[in-house]
Amino acid sequence: MTQTLSLLVEDGVAVITFNDPNAPVNALNSRLASEFDAMFTRLETDASITCAVLISGKPDVWIAGADIEELVSLTSASAGETLSRNGQRMLDRLAALKKPVVAAIHGACLGGGLEVALACHWRVLTDHPKSVTALPETQLGLLPGAGGTQRLPRLIGLQGALDMILTGKTIRPRKARSLGLIDDLVHPAVLRRVAIQRAKELASGKRTREERQSSASEMLLEDNPVGRAVVFRQAREQVMKKTRGAYPAPLAAIDVIAEGYSHGVSRGLDAEAKQFGALAMTPVCRELTFLFFATTALKKDTGVGEADVVASPVQRLAVLGAGFMGAGIASVAVQKLTPVRLRDASLERIAGGLRAVRDVLTEQRKKRRLTPLAFDDMMSLVSGSTDYTGFKRADLVIEAVFEDLSVKHTVLREVEDAAPDAIFASNTSTIPIARIAEVAAHPDRVVGMHFFSPVHKMPLLEVIAAPQTSAQTIATTVAYGKQIGKTVIVVSDGPGFYVNRILAPYINEAGRLLDEGVAMDAIDAALVGYGFPVGPITLLDEVGLDIAGKSGPIMADAFGARLAPSITLQRVLEDGRLGRKGGRGFYLYDDKGKRDGPDKSVYALTPATGARLDMSAEQIVDRTVMAMLNEAVRCLEDGVLRNTRDGDIGAVFGIGFPPFRGGPFRTIDALGVANCVQRLDALDARFPGRFTPATRLRGMAVRGERFYPSTGKPL
Ligand code: 3HC
Repeated sequence: MTQTLSLLVEDGVAVITFNDPNAPVNALNSRLASEFDAMFTRLETDASITCAVLISGKPDVWIAGADIEELVSLTSASAGETLSRNGQRMLDRLAALKKPVVAAIHGACLGGGLEVALACHWRVLTDHPKSVTALPETQLGLLPGAGGTQRLPRLIGLQGALDMILTGKTIRPRKARSLGLIDDLVHPAVLRRVAIQRAKELASGKRTREERQSSASEMLLEDNPVGRAVVFRQAREQVMKKTRGAYPAPLAAIDVIAEGYSHGVSRGLDAEAKQFGALAMTPVCRELTFLFFATTALKKDTGVGEADVVASPVQRLAVLGAGFMGAGIASVAVQKLTPVRLRDASLERIAGGLRAVRDVLTEQRKKRRLTPLAFDDMMSLVSGSTDYTGFKRADLVIEAVFEDLSVKHTVLREVEDAAPDAIFASNTSTIPIARIAEVAAHPDRVVGMHFFSPVHKMPLLEVIAAPQTSAQTIATTVAYGKQIGKTVIVVSDGPGFYVNRILAPYINEAGRLLDEGVAMDAIDAALVGYGFPVGPITLLDEVGLDIAGKSGPIMADAFGARLAPSITLQRVLEDGRLGRKGGRGFYLYDDKGKRDGPDKSVYALTPATGARLDMSAEQIVDRTVMAMLNEAVRCLEDGVLRNTRDGDIGAVFGIGFPPFRGGPFRTIDALGVANCVQRLDALDARFPGRFTPATRLRGMAVRGERFYPSTGKPL
């Protein structure tokens, strides 16, 4: 059997290399337990060894945590608890070794990987962008299950540990040092040497681990039970505010950490293992691990299946339209070091675009994600003009101009003259790409790149492959989308593509509820309660009613009565309300743009007058969400979606569909296909034509099928 751990003794130092020959990354699984045990026994018994260094044989990963594939194969809470117990025991043994072990870390050190490092006696980390440390377990619906909930607070303090464990956030090398998470920060070239030296110093007693000194605020808050109670209470409140209790893992993590403080590490570890097992069985954990597998699979998806094409590099980008979207696209491109040429009709607009790019980069610099030097370098990559100078060498041109077909046609013709070899990508959210390509000399090079606003924050990119778009063009746009950090799904051309198409019936149904007299804040509250980041009425105000008003008729034209816009939406638009940006929408805004309560004058525009109609949150959710789920299935049967995975990811990353529900298709599976058909039929009987179940769904209900396997790895 091939070994994952190998040991080499150099001058009394055992250099242990972790390199799983059968996997792309190093992960911890139960098969490794015996190898670790044998290694520890050797360290204990071999008199020629005085100390050890644990290093990775993988270029960019130290240890990526527990093997997630093994976690999803667990079938009972007690099996999960045992897995956690075994991990704890292994790391307790490591921590208790008489000979010091130094973690020599380069690359991702995540979850169980960081827990291994925490059990070592010294940590050396490379100062390199790939060297990220985190405990991301709560993002998977779990908690650190190999002692992390107990060791981390004792190493870096309670508040720092809670922050890391509850958010799962990634810690960059310098921050890791300032937190006290690591002991030395070094250049990658000297990692091994420094780690060996530290191991020897620790073994000889030349260097000892100093007791961690609490800061003044820690002494006040963390070093006494009363202060700690305050910290735990605040942490619970924050979690509840952020998650509305939909995610059990962070709350469980707080309890487990608190248990360790109140009753000692051993009881803390008991609680940790128990909760780890219980959480592994929750639907939330299943959905969040599904999202991990789905995003990982998309990283490798070229967008063209088995087609034998290679993506061309995009060395230069040009963006038409320096508005909010255009500038947003430029801001993410320069961060990946692509030179960008912005074009717009006036110098004022260009200046506005450059300012918007600067604002995004300034935010990054303030968060210390960019050094002042990198900031200057990136700003120097973006330039603008009112003509097409600088376009000639662009490999990709993205248009983000006014949503009007004739305007798109004009710029397409001009771009074909100015940048004859470039791909022309439209950032339209409503116009079919094939219509835009009608006037193209090279329609094979016309594609859709639908970004979401604000571009620098929204993780999704929808690439729209029209019938005439070549595989080469798709592969290149997909690869570039990934290069600028987006999760990319490829969808077929059609009104609303995928994301806006499923949004349309959902928003529309919310509009119908307004027509019937339901209060706008009741609608929003119901859907926020369901797990959306904002409700549909707020979403309309945020996106802009003019934009929503443009897409409404297009969708209604394409899909008929099913998507006929609601009366209230039309009237609110006719009333000249634009939403937040115009200071008037469904909600009230003060002079500074701060939102107040609902603008009750809207109710005079609804067909239902008088007192608002009382409707339960459950009914509101049933109508809006069922409309969205059904439309998602229609997108699958129409061939807009290639698969359910893309549909789930598109909804979660594009709309904020509740991640703990996994996405529309995962939700249908959870509810049961037959149950969904029944609910849709019942709604359709009340509102004929709006809820007719998708044919595919009906067929699946009859055959007792589901979209994903019910157990094990979802993809
Ligand atoms: N378990 C199993 N497989 C893993 C894995 C893990 N922890 N981490 C990565 N992989 C696999 C991926 O599935 C993928 O497999 P494939 O090639 O067969 O599809 C392969 O490794 C490469 O992964 P990426 O494509 O994501 O590679 P990147 O270089 O882009 O990213 C990474 C590498 C930063 C390590 C990223 O994969 C990552 O974030 N992994 C997950 C880390 C994580 O969540 N760890 C916590 C696990 S839970 C835990 O540790 C519990 C403990 O407390 C007991």
